[in-house]
Amino acid sequence: MTFASTKQLALEARAAGYAVPAVNIVDGISIAAVVKAADSVGSPIILQTSVKTVKYFGAPVLAALAQAAADDASVPVALHLDHCPDRAVITEAIAHGWSSVLFDASDRPFDVARAETAEVTAEAHARGVDVESEIENIVGVEDGVGSDDPNVHFYSDEQLVEVAQETSTDLIAPALGTAHGLYKAAPVLLVDRVRALAALTDIPIVLHGGTGLSAEEFRAFIDAGVSKINISTALKLSYMYSARDHLAEAERTGKWEPVKLFDQIRDSVTETVIEHIQLFGSAGRAGVTA
Ligand code: 13P
Repeated sequence: MTFASTKQLALEARAAGYAVPAVNIVDGISIAAVVKAADSVGSPIILQTSVKTVKYFGAPVLAALAQAAADDASVPVALHLDHCPDRAVITEAIAHGWSSVLFDASDRPFDVARAETAEVTAEAHARGVDVESEIENIVGVEDGVGSDDPNVHFYSDEQLVEVAQETSTDLIAPALGTAHGLYKAAPVLLVDRVRALAALTDIPIVLHGGTGLSAEEFRAFIDAGVSKINISTALKLSYMYSARDHLAEAERTGKWEPVKLFDQIRDSVTETVIEHIQLFGSAGRAGVTA
């Protein structure tokens, strides 16, 4: 199956009151685990790749791994490039068949961000690729991209929507009080901002920094209009803790079998993703574009 459209998945989710999980994968094991989770409960799914992961494996390898997993699945699978300020990597992802890219212009001043976002959407749309746009700062560093300073760029709801409409942006990533990584203090969540943005536009709204929010907080964001939720840290922890546990057991028993390590990581990541699918209400929603 060809990759699904990220925008289409998010629009369907918004109309039906759930959110599509967008999970940052790190290799072939995690790609298989995430797609297996979605397939097992009938959820649409978005595989996200950080720029760091694209650079590590190379776009052709990563696209082929994701394509092979999508081919085996009976649910819609989209492939999305996460936070990318680098226009050359955007061009590479577009050329290698990604469904969508997040052009992260949050490090640029307003007018530059607006002008470059318009250029990126023109380039991507010419190849049928959707664009998520970020011009505000979402707190936290995600695989080397971003900042811990919350208030460098923050605009009014009207400004955000105006830029999104003017640049034909397909999905908006506003600052919503969440942060990438583990929370050091309880975040101040901007659920009302989602409601205000959703009243101004039908363009899907993306929630970043999903790891660590409660079931009630996810539900409040979804009810307000969020329809794509990004999860990265939860997968990394599931991956690394299961690897650690397996290696400790191998040390104890003297049984060193790499494939058993891969199995344990895959099963742990699959379980973590199923938990998030249940929280986001996307189980059983895969019928529409499959
Ligand atoms: P977390 O690492 O907090 O889950 O955030 C993921 C994210 O927003 C990726 O863009």
